[in-house]
Amino acid sequence: MANSRSGDSVIDRIVRVLATFDAEHTEQTPTDISRRAGLPASTGHRLVGDLVRSGVLERDEEGRARVGMRLWELATRGSMALGLRQAALPAMGRVQAAVRQHTQLGVLDGDQVLFLERLSHPDAGANITRIAGRLPLHASSSGLVLLAAAPAAVVERVLAAPLERLAAETIDDPGALRRKLAEVRRLGYAVAPGSIEAVSTGVAVPIRDRGSVVAALGVVLPRGEENDRVVAALRDAAAEIELSLARSSTILATFES
Ligand code: PHB
Repeated sequence: MANSRSGDSVIDRIVRVLATFDAEHTEQTPTDISRRAGLPASTGHRLVGDLVRSGVLERDEEGRARVGMRLWELATRGSMALGLRQAALPAMGRVQAAVRQHTQLGVLDGDQVLFLERLSHPDAGANITRIAGRLPLHASSSGLVLLAAAPAAVVERVLAAPLERLAAETIDDPGALRRKLAEVRRLGYAVAPGSIEAVSTGVAVPIRDRGSVVAALGVVLPRGEENDRVVAALRDAAAEIELSLARSSTILATFES
């Protein structure tokens, strides 16, 4: 793959172009994309043109680019995330009908939680989580569940890095985080009141596949509304999702054999 003078490959530059799109930047001019991707304007304009021609990006009436449906199609259909989301959705729907707030599914990706799905009620309280958005492990209930089950190297790396304080009650002390992770392992769920924002509490449980934690299922509630019924609903849902994952691994194994 041809490298530019700065040493990055065409693939690196394309990924940087695609990574400029987020919930706050869904439609951007090629000039803005180039700037946000840290690319010379001529390179950015050329890459955007090539990506539009291949359908990875689309252009709106004003000439601004947005992520194309083709990219969604290619990214989704072969992804491991799709199987997990499909296994989880029926049970997530039941949790959502019971809590009528927010129900979400997250996985560990790098040193963050990446959210694959979120169901919400129109009258639900605050929640900063977005589908395909990320939250820090130490600050969110899903993150705490995933970190509590992560390899020791990940835990130590997170503990050694600065623990960003997102709200007054975010755990930003490594010793306190170590104790919180021990609590999550002991209880089998995480409660994070006022950790992301003062007004809400996250509650999350692990989802296991063949013995390993592969995801976290969580709810976000207005502060003070957390209770044992929520934990029980999440646990029932996690058990159902685990059964569905086990069934699909058996089906896959049958096809592979
Ligand atoms: C959480 O998972 O703890 C969480 C996530 C998003 C929020 C609040 C809490 O807005």
